[in-house]
Amino acid sequence: MKPFIKWAGGKRWLTSDPTFSLPDFSGRYIEPFLGGGAVFFDTRPKDALLSDINPKLIEVYLTVRDGWQLVLRELERLQRLHSKEFFYEERRRRRKTPHTRAAQFLYLNRTCFNGLYRENQKGEFNVPIGSKDKVIFADEDFSEISKA
Ligand SMILES: C[S@@+](CC[C@H](N)C(=O)[O-])C[C@H]1O[C@@H](n2cnc3c(N)ncnc32)[C@H](O)[C@@H]1O
Repeated sequence: MKPFIKWAGGKRWLTSDPTFSLPDFSGRYIEPFLGGGAVFFDTRPKDALLSDINPKLIEVYLTVRDGWQLVLRELERLQRLHSKEFFYEERRRRRKTPHTRAAQFLYLNRTCFNGLYRENQKGEFNVPIGSKDKVIFADEDFSEISKA
């Protein structure tokens, strides 16, 4: 399974190598610096403890886990509205519910420059628009992501 969040420093390059596997281990898989979770999603350990210092990133994971349908519906709306002007309007908006914040996070993650995440000193996301305009991917299964 591929990560659904693009993240700088992610290990997609490693997990997309067909020879990649984790060494055998017993017990719990612990990933304190989750980011996009490339290794976790690729290996799907049964018992895992995942964390990250970025609370906005963690909120996306929790909201997709607990209510992916609402997130996807909002993401579809953002896809329909996407344009350069809309990107900058949306980047300025302060969303008030977990599912609209999660969809906004994913929308900006998928359409901003290189999927970077950067905030200014006021905590405002400030990455400019990038070249990609696909917000929904046909091969992406939010129900499976939620289960994972
Ligand atoms: C390079 S990303 C991790 C990539 C990920 N492990 C993967 O496989 O794709 C590093 C992450 O560590 C998080 N991080 C940095 N310092 C941290 C800290 N002190 N405690 C928890 N997370 C931290 C960042 O927010 C970022 O999401």
